[in-house]
Amino acid sequence: MDKYELRAILMSGCLMAVFFSALLFNLYSRKIDVPECTPYTGIFKEPHVTQLDNNTYQAFVTAGMWAFAPTGMKFPKGSTVDFYLTSKDVVHGFLIEHKGVNLMAIPGTMNKVTVKFNEPGEYRIVCHEYCGAGHQNMMSTINVTE
Ligand code: CUA
Repeated sequence: MDKYELRAILMSGCLMAVFFSALLFNLYSRKIDVPECTPYTGIFKEPHVTQLDNNTYQAFVTAGMWAFAPTGMKFPKGSTVDFYLTSKDVVHGFLIEHKGVNLMAIPGTMNKVTVKFNEPGEYRIVCHEYCGAGHQNMMSTINVTE
């Protein structure tokens, strides 16, 4: 085997180890959930938030040109929220600032991520996939109260 070929293989292996370590670090140290992709169930006809108990919620969120629904989501500090996400039209992004959440909203498919809000404040949701003329205005907020 050529020495440059061997170097390329070793460097690729090291890079894979770095990426895998970053994934494990985020999963266990920063408690960031690895997103799941599950079949679309039609539960998004009316985007809504459901409270399961004192500090556990489910948010069924739709992205569409050029807004997220429901708007004005509010959770108390310490809440754990399962976000279920889909799109009504084209592919959109779903990024929650300062929470490490970065999902794609895909028509006909549902993505899920679990987020724990330990700090009160306003968290912006931003669309980060170009989705048409109103893309730059597509954002929403989550308010986490004391
Ligand atoms: Cu939706 Cu960009």
